Amino acid sequence: MVSRIIPVEPFDLVIFGGTGDLARRKILPGLFRRFCAGQMPDRAQIIGAARGELDDARYRTLIAEAIIEFAKPSAEDHAQIEGFLKHLAFVSIDAKGTRGWEALESLLRDDVVRAFYFSVAPALFGGLAEQLHSYGLVDNNSRVVVEKPFGRDLASAKALNAALAVHFNEDQVYRIDHYLGKETVQNLMAVRFGNMLFEPLWNSQYVDHIQITVAETVGVGGRGGYYDTSGAMRDMVQNHLMQLLCLIAMEPPAKFDPDAVRDEKLKVIRALDPVAPQDLVRGQYRANETQSGFLEDVGNPTSKTESFIALKAHISNWRWAGTPFYLRSGKCLRARSSEIAIVFKDTPHSIFPDAGGTHRNVLSIQLQPNEGMTLDVTIKEPGPGGMRLVDVPLDMSFAEALGAESADVPDAYERLIMDVIRGNQTLFMRGDEVEAAWAWTDPLISGWETRGDRPAPYDIGSSGPDDAMMLLHRDSRRWREVR
Ligand code: BG6
Repeated sequence: MVSRIIPVEPFDLVIFGGTGDLARRKILPGLFRRFCAGQMPDRAQIIGAARGELDDARYRTLIAEAIIEFAKPSAEDHAQIEGFLKHLAFVSIDAKGTRGWEALESLLRDDVVRAFYFSVAPALFGGLAEQLHSYGLVDNNSRVVVEKPFGRDLASAKALNAALAVHFNEDQVYRIDHYLGKETVQNLMAVRFGNMLFEPLWNSQYVDHIQITVAETVGVGGRGGYYDTSGAMRDMVQNHLMQLLCLIAMEPPAKFDPDAVRDEKLKVIRALDPVAPQDLVRGQYRANETQSGFLEDVGNPTSKTESFIALKAHISNWRWAGTPFYLRSGKCLRARSSEIAIVFKDTPHSIFPDAGGTHRNVLSIQLQPNEGMTLDVTIKEPGPGGMRLVDVPLDMSFAEALGAESADVPDAYERLIMDVIRGNQTLFMRGDEVEAAWAWTDPLISGWETRGDRPAPYDIGSSGPDDAMMLLHRDSRRWREVR
Protein backbone atom coordinates (compact mmCIF):
# COMPACT_ATOMS: atom_id res chain seq x y z
CA MET A 1 0.00 0.00 0.00
CA VAL A 2 1.25 3.48 -0.82
CA SER A 3 1.68 5.82 2.12
CA ARG A 4 -0.27 9.03 1.61
CA ILE A 5 1.01 11.14 4.47
CA ILE A 6 0.78 14.80 3.61
CA PRO A 7 2.46 17.24 6.03
CA VAL A 8 0.06 19.77 7.48
CA GLU A 9 0.62 23.53 7.33
CA PRO A 10 3.02 25.17 9.78
CA PHE A 11 1.33 25.80 13.11
CA ASP A 12 1.54 27.08 16.66
CA LEU A 13 -0.37 24.80 19.00
CA VAL A 14 -0.77 26.05 22.55
CA ILE A 15 -1.84 23.35 25.01
CA PHE A 16 -3.36 24.79 28.17
CA GLY A 17 -3.00 22.03 30.74
CA GLY A 18 0.23 21.12 28.92
CA THR A 19 1.58 19.10 31.86
CA GLY A 20 -1.74 17.37 32.61
CA ASP A 21 -2.79 13.78 32.24
CA LEU A 22 -4.41 14.09 28.81
CA ALA A 23 -1.48 16.05 27.40
CA ARG A 24 1.01 13.45 28.64
CA ARG A 25 -1.03 10.38 27.77
CA LYS A 26 -2.62 11.33 24.49
CA ILE A 27 -1.96 14.74 22.98
CA LEU A 28 1.85 14.84 22.99
CA PRO A 29 2.43 11.13 22.32
CA GLY A 30 -0.04 11.54 19.43
CA LEU A 31 1.84 14.52 18.04
CA PHE A 32 5.09 12.59 18.40
CA ARG A 33 3.71 9.74 16.32
CA ARG A 34 2.61 12.19 13.62
CA PHE A 35 6.14 13.62 13.73
CA CYS A 36 7.59 10.13 13.20
CA ALA A 37 5.16 9.57 10.34
CA GLY A 38 6.48 12.70 8.64
CA GLN A 39 3.28 14.69 8.98
CA MET A 40 4.63 17.48 11.13
CA PRO A 41 6.04 20.45 9.21
CA ASP A 42 9.44 21.92 10.12
CA ARG A 43 7.80 25.11 11.31
CA ALA A 44 5.55 23.43 13.87
CA GLN A 45 5.68 24.82 17.37
CA ILE A 46 3.96 23.18 20.34
CA ILE A 47 3.73 25.32 23.44
CA GLY A 48 2.82 23.70 26.73
CA ALA A 49 1.13 26.20 29.02
CA ALA A 50 0.47 25.40 32.66
CA ARG A 51 0.74 26.82 36.16
CA GLY A 52 3.96 24.98 37.06
CA GLU A 53 7.32 26.73 37.09
CA LEU A 54 9.07 24.69 34.41
CA ASP A 55 11.47 25.86 31.74
CA ASP A 56 11.72 24.50 28.19
CA ALA A 57 14.36 21.94 29.15
CA ARG A 58 12.38 20.49 32.03
CA TYR A 59 9.21 20.43 29.98
CA ARG A 60 11.00 18.53 27.23
CA THR A 61 12.27 15.99 29.74
CA LEU A 62 8.76 15.54 31.13
CA ILE A 63 7.34 15.00 27.66
CA ALA A 64 10.17 12.66 26.62
CA GLU A 65 9.23 10.48 29.60
CA ALA A 66 5.56 10.60 28.66
CA ILE A 67 6.35 9.60 25.08
CA ILE A 68 8.38 6.61 26.24
CA GLU A 69 5.63 5.55 28.62
CA PHE A 70 2.57 6.14 26.47
CA ALA A 71 3.69 6.13 22.81
CA LYS A 72 5.90 3.07 23.42
CA PRO A 73 8.19 3.98 20.52
CA SER A 74 10.05 1.37 18.50
CA ALA A 75 13.85 1.65 18.48
CA GLU A 76 13.63 3.54 15.21
CA ASP A 77 11.09 6.03 16.55
CA HIS A 78 12.96 6.35 19.81
CA ALA A 79 15.81 7.92 17.88
CA GLN A 80 13.39 10.64 16.74
CA ILE A 81 12.45 11.86 20.22
CA GLU A 82 15.23 14.47 20.31
CA GLY A 83 14.11 15.92 16.99
CA PHE A 84 10.51 16.12 18.15
CA LEU A 85 11.40 17.83 21.41
CA LYS A 86 12.96 20.72 19.47
CA HIS A 87 9.42 21.70 18.49
CA LEU A 88 8.40 22.11 22.13
CA ALA A 89 8.40 25.18 24.35
CA PHE A 90 6.86 25.89 27.74
CA VAL A 91 5.18 28.92 29.25
CA SER A 92 4.36 29.11 32.93
CA ILE A 93 1.03 30.87 32.94
CA ASP A 94 -1.69 31.96 35.31
CA ALA A 95 -4.95 31.31 33.50
CA LYS A 96 -6.79 33.91 35.54
CA GLY A 97 -4.03 36.44 36.21
CA THR A 98 -1.34 38.23 34.22
CA ARG A 99 1.66 35.94 34.63
CA GLY A 100 2.94 34.38 31.45
CA TRP A 101 0.61 35.97 28.91
CA GLU A 102 3.17 38.31 27.42
CA ALA A 103 5.67 35.48 27.23
CA LEU A 104 3.08 33.47 25.30
CA GLU A 105 2.38 36.40 22.99
CA SER A 106 6.08 36.73 22.17
CA LEU A 107 6.25 33.08 21.08
CA LEU A 108 3.29 33.18 18.71
CA ARG A 109 3.87 33.84 15.03
CA ASP A 110 1.55 35.62 12.64
CA ASP A 111 2.07 33.58 9.50
CA VAL A 112 1.06 30.13 10.75
CA VAL A 113 -2.13 28.37 11.86
CA ARG A 114 -2.80 29.14 15.51
CA ALA A 115 -4.64 26.64 17.70
CA PHE A 116 -5.40 26.74 21.40
CA TYR A 117 -6.13 23.41 23.06
CA PHE A 118 -8.09 23.82 26.30
CA SER A 119 -7.07 20.61 28.06
CA VAL A 120 -8.38 22.01 31.34
CA ALA A 121 -11.57 21.93 33.41
CA PRO A 122 -14.55 23.36 31.51
CA ALA A 123 -14.95 25.99 34.23
CA LEU A 124 -11.82 27.63 32.78
CA PHE A 125 -12.96 27.74 29.14
CA GLY A 126 -14.70 31.11 29.30
CA GLY A 127 -11.89 32.78 31.27
CA LEU A 128 -9.23 31.48 28.89
CA ALA A 129 -11.14 32.70 25.84
CA GLU A 130 -11.44 36.09 27.51
CA GLN A 131 -7.71 36.27 28.31
CA LEU A 132 -6.71 35.23 24.79
CA HIS A 133 -8.90 37.95 23.43
CA SER A 134 -7.71 40.66 25.78
CA TYR A 135 -4.06 39.92 24.92
CA GLY A 136 -4.98 40.16 21.25
CA LEU A 137 -4.04 36.54 20.55
CA VAL A 138 -7.21 35.54 18.70
CA ASP A 139 -7.71 36.30 15.03
CA ASN A 140 -10.08 34.90 12.43
CA ASN A 141 -7.73 32.05 11.66
CA SER A 142 -7.30 30.94 15.28
CA ARG A 143 -8.89 27.73 16.49
CA VAL A 144 -9.87 26.52 19.90
CA VAL A 145 -10.06 22.84 20.85
CA VAL A 146 -12.16 21.80 23.83
CA GLU A 147 -12.46 18.47 25.55
CA LYS A 148 -15.39 16.66 27.04
CA PRO A 149 -17.19 16.82 29.38
CA PHE A 150 -18.85 19.62 27.45
CA GLY A 151 -21.25 20.53 30.23
CA ARG A 152 -23.17 18.22 32.53
CA ASP A 153 -26.63 19.17 31.27
CA LEU A 154 -28.27 21.36 28.66
CA ALA A 155 -28.01 24.55 30.71
CA SER A 156 -24.28 24.20 31.41
CA ALA A 157 -23.55 23.20 27.78
CA LYS A 158 -25.40 26.29 26.59
CA ALA A 159 -23.39 28.43 28.99
CA LEU A 160 -20.11 26.96 27.66
CA ASN A 161 -21.18 27.48 24.06
CA ALA A 162 -22.12 31.06 24.87
CA ALA A 163 -18.81 31.72 26.67
CA LEU A 164 -16.81 30.45 23.68
CA ALA A 165 -19.03 32.29 21.19
CA VAL A 166 -18.06 35.65 22.69
CA HIS A 167 -14.62 35.41 21.07
CA PHE A 168 -14.74 32.51 18.62
CA ASN A 169 -17.04 31.80 15.67
CA GLU A 170 -18.55 28.33 15.51
CA ASP A 171 -16.20 27.44 12.65
CA GLN A 172 -13.26 28.08 14.98
CA VAL A 173 -14.47 25.77 17.76
CA TYR A 174 -13.37 22.11 17.72
CA ARG A 175 -15.28 20.05 20.33
CA ILE A 176 -13.49 16.74 20.66
CA ASP A 177 -15.27 13.44 20.95
CA HIS A 178 -12.36 11.08 20.54
CA TYR A 179 -14.64 8.28 19.35
CA LEU A 180 -15.07 10.18 16.09
CA GLY A 181 -11.30 9.98 15.58
CA LYS A 182 -11.25 6.20 15.82
CA GLU A 183 -10.38 4.63 12.50
CA THR A 184 -13.30 2.19 12.51
CA VAL A 185 -15.78 4.91 13.28
CA GLN A 186 -14.72 6.70 10.14
CA ASN A 187 -14.85 3.38 8.36
CA LEU A 188 -18.47 3.14 9.34
CA MET A 189 -19.16 6.04 7.02
CA ALA A 190 -16.97 4.52 4.30
CA VAL A 191 -18.83 1.22 4.56
CA ARG A 192 -22.24 2.84 4.51
CA PHE A 193 -21.69 5.40 1.81
CA GLY A 194 -18.94 3.81 -0.26
CA ASN A 195 -20.76 0.56 -1.00
CA MET A 196 -23.93 -0.19 -2.91
CA LEU A 197 -24.46 -3.33 -0.91
CA PHE A 198 -25.63 -2.01 2.44
CA GLU A 199 -27.53 1.20 1.92
CA PRO A 200 -30.67 -0.32 0.31
CA LEU A 201 -31.02 -2.62 3.33
CA TRP A 202 -30.19 0.02 5.92
CA ASN A 203 -33.68 0.68 7.27
CA SER A 204 -36.44 -0.74 9.43
CA GLN A 205 -37.76 -2.88 6.60
CA TYR A 206 -34.66 -5.08 6.72
CA VAL A 207 -32.96 -4.31 10.02
CA ASP A 208 -34.46 -6.01 13.08
CA HIS A 209 -32.47 -4.05 15.63
CA ILE A 210 -29.11 -2.50 16.32
CA GLN A 211 -26.83 -3.03 19.31
CA ILE A 212 -24.12 -0.64 20.36
CA THR A 213 -21.85 -1.88 23.13
CA VAL A 214 -18.88 -0.12 24.67
CA ALA A 215 -17.63 -2.42 27.41
CA GLU A 216 -14.58 -1.72 29.54
CA THR A 217 -12.72 -3.93 31.99
CA VAL A 218 -11.31 -1.01 33.95
CA GLY A 219 -13.07 0.61 36.88
CA VAL A 220 -13.23 4.34 37.52
CA GLY A 221 -9.54 4.35 38.47
CA GLY A 222 -8.22 7.55 39.90
CA ARG A 223 -11.18 9.53 38.56
CA GLY A 224 -13.63 8.63 41.31
CA GLY A 225 -14.46 12.21 42.20
CA TYR A 226 -15.32 13.20 38.65
CA TYR A 227 -17.08 9.95 37.88
CA ASP A 228 -19.36 10.07 40.90
CA THR A 229 -20.79 13.34 39.63
CA SER A 230 -20.97 12.04 36.09
CA GLY A 231 -21.85 8.35 35.68
CA ALA A 232 -22.00 6.25 32.54
CA MET A 233 -24.83 8.26 31.00
CA ARG A 234 -22.95 11.54 31.04
CA ASP A 235 -19.48 10.04 30.59
CA MET A 236 -20.19 7.70 27.68
CA VAL A 237 -23.75 7.70 26.32
CA GLN A 238 -24.41 11.42 25.88
CA ASN A 239 -21.32 11.71 23.70
CA HIS A 240 -19.54 8.58 22.44
CA LEU A 241 -22.50 6.22 22.07
CA MET A 242 -24.75 8.95 20.70
CA GLN A 243 -22.15 9.77 18.08
CA LEU A 244 -21.99 6.14 17.02
CA LEU A 245 -25.76 5.98 16.88
CA CYS A 246 -25.84 9.10 14.71
CA LEU A 247 -23.35 7.73 12.20
CA ILE A 248 -25.35 4.53 11.85
CA ALA A 249 -28.74 6.17 11.69
CA MET A 250 -28.15 9.36 9.71
CA GLU A 251 -29.31 9.92 6.16
CA PRO A 252 -26.56 10.02 3.53
CA PRO A 253 -25.14 13.54 3.59
CA ALA A 254 -24.94 15.19 0.17
CA LYS A 255 -21.19 15.51 0.59
CA PHE A 256 -18.52 14.68 3.11
CA ASP A 257 -18.19 18.13 4.49
CA PRO A 258 -18.48 19.31 8.09
CA ASP A 259 -21.89 20.90 8.02
CA ALA A 260 -23.47 18.38 5.65
CA VAL A 261 -22.47 15.54 8.00
CA ARG A 262 -23.33 17.38 11.20
CA ASP A 263 -26.72 18.51 9.88
CA GLU A 264 -27.64 14.87 9.32
CA LYS A 265 -26.40 13.78 12.75
CA LEU A 266 -28.38 16.55 14.39
CA LYS A 267 -31.58 15.39 12.68
CA VAL A 268 -31.08 11.93 14.19
CA ILE A 269 -30.66 13.27 17.72
CA ARG A 270 -33.75 15.42 17.33
CA ALA A 271 -35.76 12.42 16.14
CA LEU A 272 -34.93 10.34 19.22
CA ASP A 273 -37.95 9.53 21.37
CA PRO A 274 -37.80 9.95 25.13
CA VAL A 275 -36.79 6.69 26.82
CA ALA A 276 -39.41 5.08 29.07
CA PRO A 277 -38.16 4.20 32.59
CA GLN A 278 -38.68 0.48 31.93
CA ASP A 279 -36.38 0.74 28.89
CA LEU A 280 -33.45 1.90 30.98
CA VAL A 281 -31.22 -0.16 33.28
CA ARG A 282 -28.48 1.22 35.47
CA GLY A 283 -25.89 -0.73 37.42
CA GLN A 284 -22.99 -0.40 39.83
CA TYR A 285 -20.12 -2.90 40.06
CA ARG A 286 -19.79 -4.40 43.52
CA ALA A 287 -16.71 -5.42 45.48
CA ASN A 288 -15.44 -8.99 45.50
CA GLU A 289 -12.71 -10.62 47.61
CA THR A 290 -9.92 -9.07 45.61
CA GLN A 291 -11.29 -5.88 44.12
CA SER A 292 -12.99 -2.81 45.49
CA GLY A 293 -16.43 -1.92 44.24
CA PHE A 294 -17.78 1.28 42.76
CA LEU A 295 -18.82 2.76 46.11
CA GLU A 296 -15.29 2.36 47.51
CA ASP A 297 -13.71 3.58 44.27
CA VAL A 298 -15.65 6.84 44.30
CA GLY A 299 -15.36 7.15 48.09
CA ASN A 300 -19.09 7.61 48.52
CA PRO A 301 -20.95 4.75 50.27
CA THR A 302 -24.38 6.16 49.37
CA SER A 303 -23.65 6.97 45.72
CA LYS A 304 -26.50 6.36 43.30
CA THR A 305 -24.33 7.02 40.27
CA GLU A 306 -24.21 4.30 37.59
CA SER A 307 -21.08 2.60 36.29
CA PHE A 308 -23.21 0.69 33.79
CA ILE A 309 -26.15 1.69 31.65
CA ALA A 310 -28.28 -0.06 29.06
CA LEU A 311 -31.22 1.44 27.24
CA LYS A 312 -33.55 1.00 24.33
CA ALA A 313 -33.86 3.98 22.04
CA HIS A 314 -36.28 4.65 19.20
CA ILE A 315 -35.79 7.02 16.33
CA SER A 316 -39.06 8.38 15.03
CA ASN A 317 -38.43 8.87 11.35
CA TRP A 318 -39.26 7.03 8.12
CA ARG A 319 -36.05 5.08 8.01
CA TRP A 320 -36.01 3.75 11.56
CA ALA A 321 -39.53 3.70 13.00
CA GLY A 322 -39.98 0.27 14.61
CA THR A 323 -36.27 -0.67 14.77
CA PRO A 324 -34.93 -0.39 18.30
CA PHE A 325 -31.39 0.73 19.04
CA TYR A 326 -30.05 -0.99 22.17
CA LEU A 327 -27.16 0.85 23.78
CA ARG A 328 -25.02 -0.29 26.68
CA SER A 329 -21.78 0.76 28.27
CA GLY A 330 -20.12 -0.06 31.53
CA LYS A 331 -16.96 -0.42 33.56
CA CYS A 332 -15.49 -3.57 35.17
CA LEU A 333 -17.17 -5.82 32.62
CA ARG A 334 -16.00 -9.16 31.29
CA ALA A 335 -13.95 -7.83 28.39
CA ARG A 336 -12.84 -4.66 26.71
CA SER A 337 -14.97 -4.79 23.67
CA SER A 338 -16.75 -2.18 21.62
CA GLU A 339 -19.02 -3.28 18.88
CA ILE A 340 -21.84 -2.06 16.72
CA ALA A 341 -24.05 -4.88 15.48
CA ILE A 342 -26.63 -4.44 12.76
CA VAL A 343 -28.92 -7.43 13.14
CA PHE A 344 -30.98 -8.06 10.02
CA LYS A 345 -34.44 -9.58 9.96
CA ASP A 346 -35.19 -13.22 9.29
CA THR A 347 -35.84 -14.25 5.72
CA PRO A 348 -39.58 -13.94 5.05
CA HIS A 349 -39.93 -17.66 4.39
CA SER A 350 -37.61 -20.61 4.84
CA ILE A 351 -37.52 -23.22 2.10
CA PHE A 352 -35.26 -25.46 4.22
CA PRO A 353 -37.37 -27.37 6.73
CA ASP A 354 -34.25 -28.88 8.39
CA ALA A 355 -32.42 -25.59 8.58
CA GLY A 356 -31.94 -25.88 12.34
CA GLY A 357 -32.95 -22.76 14.28
CA THR A 358 -33.17 -19.24 13.00
CA HIS A 359 -30.48 -17.68 10.90
CA ARG A 360 -29.78 -14.04 10.64
CA ASN A 361 -27.31 -11.85 8.91
CA VAL A 362 -25.40 -9.68 11.34
CA LEU A 363 -23.01 -6.97 10.30
CA SER A 364 -20.67 -6.42 13.21
CA ILE A 365 -18.33 -3.47 13.32
CA GLN A 366 -15.67 -3.85 16.01
CA LEU A 367 -14.08 -0.72 17.33
CA GLN A 368 -11.79 -2.33 19.85
CA PRO A 369 -9.73 -4.14 20.82
CA ASN A 370 -9.26 -5.33 17.22
CA GLU A 371 -10.68 -3.07 14.58
CA GLY A 372 -12.57 -4.81 11.85
CA MET A 373 -15.88 -6.02 10.48
CA THR A 374 -17.60 -9.32 10.15
CA LEU A 375 -20.71 -10.20 8.22
CA ASP A 376 -22.49 -13.34 9.36
CA VAL A 377 -23.91 -15.16 6.38
CA THR A 378 -25.90 -18.34 6.35
CA ILE A 379 -24.51 -21.28 4.39
CA LYS A 380 -25.02 -25.01 4.16
CA GLU A 381 -23.21 -27.02 6.74
CA PRO A 382 -20.70 -29.14 4.80
CA GLY A 383 -21.26 -32.87 4.36
CA PRO A 384 -24.23 -35.17 4.06
CA GLY A 385 -27.38 -34.83 6.12
CA GLY A 386 -29.57 -32.52 4.11
CA MET A 387 -29.75 -28.76 4.04
CA ARG A 388 -28.62 -27.94 7.54
CA LEU A 389 -27.68 -24.30 7.73
CA VAL A 390 -24.97 -22.57 9.74
CA ASP A 391 -23.99 -18.95 10.12
CA VAL A 392 -20.36 -18.20 9.34
CA PRO A 393 -18.66 -14.86 9.63
CA LEU A 394 -17.06 -13.28 6.60
CA ASP A 395 -14.22 -11.85 8.54
CA MET A 396 -12.38 -8.68 7.71
CA SER A 397 -9.84 -7.63 10.25
CA PHE A 398 -8.53 -4.34 8.88
CA ALA A 399 -4.99 -5.07 9.95
CA GLU A 400 -4.99 -8.41 8.12
CA ALA A 401 -6.85 -7.26 5.06
CA LEU A 402 -4.92 -4.10 4.47
CA GLY A 403 -1.42 -5.20 5.40
CA ALA A 404 1.12 -4.29 8.02
CA GLU A 405 1.04 -0.56 7.41
CA SER A 406 -2.59 -0.30 8.42
CA ALA A 407 -2.00 -2.38 11.54
CA ASP A 408 -0.42 0.73 12.93
CA VAL A 409 -3.59 2.81 12.74
CA PRO A 410 -3.25 6.30 14.18
CA ASP A 411 -4.75 6.88 17.57
CA ALA A 412 -7.93 8.96 17.56
CA TYR A 413 -6.16 11.99 19.00
CA GLU A 414 -3.50 11.99 16.30
CA ARG A 415 -6.08 12.16 13.60
CA LEU A 416 -8.19 14.79 15.33
CA ILE A 417 -5.33 17.15 16.13
CA MET A 418 -4.16 17.02 12.52
CA ASP A 419 -7.74 17.83 11.46
CA VAL A 420 -7.68 20.91 13.70
CA ILE A 421 -4.57 22.14 11.92
CA ARG A 422 -6.10 21.35 8.53
CA GLY A 423 -9.23 23.24 9.56
CA ASN A 424 -11.55 20.28 9.01
CA GLN A 425 -14.43 20.12 11.49
CA THR A 426 -16.19 17.04 10.08
CA LEU A 427 -15.17 14.83 13.01
CA PHE A 428 -15.94 17.41 15.69
CA MET A 429 -19.25 18.12 17.39
CA ARG A 430 -21.10 21.28 16.54
CA GLY A 431 -22.57 23.34 19.37
CA ASP A 432 -26.18 22.59 18.43
CA GLU A 433 -25.42 18.86 18.26
CA VAL A 434 -24.07 18.83 21.80
CA GLU A 435 -27.05 20.79 23.05
CA ALA A 436 -29.51 18.45 21.31
CA ALA A 437 -27.76 15.46 22.89
CA TRP A 438 -28.15 17.00 26.34
CA ALA A 439 -31.77 17.88 25.62
CA TRP A 440 -32.43 14.18 25.06
CA THR A 441 -30.33 13.03 28.04
CA ASP A 442 -31.50 15.53 30.66
CA PRO A 443 -35.04 14.16 31.20
CA LEU A 444 -33.70 10.63 31.56
CA ILE A 445 -31.31 11.71 34.28
CA SER A 446 -33.81 13.91 36.08
CA GLY A 447 -36.35 11.06 35.81
CA TRP A 448 -34.21 8.60 37.79
CA GLU A 449 -33.12 11.32 40.18
CA THR A 450 -36.73 12.24 40.94
CA ARG A 451 -37.73 8.62 41.36
CA GLY A 452 -34.68 8.05 43.59
CA ASP A 453 -33.71 4.96 41.56
CA ARG A 454 -30.72 2.98 42.79
CA PRO A 455 -28.48 1.25 40.26
CA ALA A 456 -28.58 -2.56 40.42
CA PRO A 457 -25.35 -4.18 41.65
CA TYR A 458 -23.41 -6.39 39.23
CA ASP A 459 -20.35 -8.58 39.55
CA ILE A 460 -16.97 -7.43 38.37
CA GLY A 461 -16.14 -9.39 35.23
CA SER A 462 -19.79 -10.00 34.30
CA SER A 463 -21.85 -8.54 31.45
CA GLY A 464 -23.66 -6.13 33.75
CA PRO A 465 -26.83 -6.49 35.83
CA ASP A 466 -29.40 -9.17 34.98
CA ASP A 467 -31.99 -6.52 34.27
CA ALA A 468 -29.93 -5.50 31.26
CA MET A 469 -30.39 -9.02 29.86
CA MET A 470 -34.13 -8.73 30.48
CA LEU A 471 -34.28 -5.54 28.45
CA LEU A 472 -33.72 -7.65 25.34
CA HIS A 473 -35.31 -10.90 26.52
CA ARG A 474 -38.58 -9.05 26.89
CA ASP A 475 -38.38 -8.31 23.19
CA SER A 476 -37.35 -11.92 22.40
CA ARG A 477 -33.85 -10.77 21.55
CA ARG A 478 -30.39 -11.33 23.04
CA TRP A 479 -27.38 -9.18 23.60
CA ARG A 480 -24.34 -10.27 21.70
CA GLU A 481 -21.73 -11.71 23.95
CA VAL A 482 -19.13 -9.36 25.42
CA ARG A 483 -15.81 -11.14 24.78
C1 BG6 B 1 -13.61 8.65 28.02
C2 BG6 B 1 -14.33 8.38 29.32
O1 BG6 B 1 -14.23 9.67 27.30
O2 BG6 B 1 -13.61 7.46 27.24
C3 BG6 B 1 -13.68 7.23 30.06
O3 BG6 B 1 -14.31 9.55 30.11
C4 BG6 B 1 -13.58 6.02 29.18
O4 BG6 B 1 -14.41 6.93 31.24
C5 BG6 B 1 -12.95 6.37 27.84
O5 BG6 B 1 -12.81 5.04 29.86
C6 BG6 B 1 -13.00 5.20 26.89
O6 BG6 B 1 -12.24 5.49 25.75
P1 BG6 B 1 -11.62 4.34 24.86
O7 BG6 B 1 -11.03 5.05 23.69
O8 BG6 B 1 -10.61 3.64 25.71
O9 BG6 B 1 -12.76 3.45 24.50
